[in-house]
Amino acid sequence: MPGQGSSLTCDGVTVALEGPRGPVTVLDGISCAFTAPRTAVIGLNGSGKSTLLRLFNALVPPSAGTVRTHGVDPVADPRTARSLVGFVFTDPASQILMPTPLEDIELSLRRAVADRRERSARALDWLRRMGLAERGHHSVFDLSGGERQLVALAAVLAVEPRVLVLDEPTTLLDLRNRLRLRELLDSLPQQQLISTHDLDLAATAQHVAVVHGSRITAQGPPEDVIPRYRHWCAHGFPDDAA
Ligand SMILES: Nc1ncnc2c1ncn2[C@@H]1O[C@H](COP(=O)(O)OP(=O)(O)OP(=O)(O)O)[C@@H](O)[C@H]1O
Ligand SMILES: [Mg+2]
Repeated sequence: MPGQGSSLTCDGVTVALEGPRGPVTVLDGISCAFTAPRTAVIGLNGSGKSTLLRLFNALVPPSAGTVRTHGVDPVADPRTARSLVGFVFTDPASQILMPTPLEDIELSLRRAVADRRERSARALDWLRRMGLAERGHHSVFDLSGGERQLVALAAVLAVEPRVLVLDEPTTLLDLRNRLRLRELLDSLPQQQLISTHDLDLAATAQHVAVVHGSRITAQGPPEDVIPRYRHWCAHGFPDDAA
């Protein structure tokens, strides 16, 4: 799917956020064009991965430069950018709004599916795909962190966005659910942009980008980029002061 229509691009993008001691440059003049079916963004804690992901659905505006989400400018048209992008947050609590998983997915479907029964059936079907059919009527507060993460993902997938942006989707998951999630992601038609510390997941992407020192310091196929990242984590990043 080449071309701007299926690309997530940044051109000279800087993001400066207000910190307690003045503005902090989180991203510094980065340019990228992610067109692969799955792109993984890796990097140390606090390197700017989540900030980079948030640019594409207008959660964070660039301080300078331009962003395009499948050709749409998220600054000029945040509503369209958000309709294109299904964004799954690291912390499912920031995204689950309803008391039970079933109701939460139904809420997500309220615009797409007018008929209540049909909505309920579709929501249940998504819970089944997540292995959570039995949990549909439980209080979300009684679910484990991993179960909540899967519910949040199901609510996003239910509306069939064109792009899936996942911020550390496997953080809370056990190995079985990680494998299930990988299988699910493999079966989806959406372009995927995933921030992760799970290098096994990153290895399944066609394209991997490393964020470090407010820049994208390496990108390419996983077999080239991940071993370099491992080396830098153990022995220091090339641009860091000795
Ligand atoms: N709203 C904000 N105001 C000020 N600083 C912020 C804000 N949001 C993030 N930051 C800072 O920007 C830097 C990058 O944060 P970001 O969340 O993008 O990192 P990350 O690579 O996703 O880290 P992690 O792997 O821990 O999730 C961090 O130093 C963070 O403290
Ligand atoms: Mg993050």
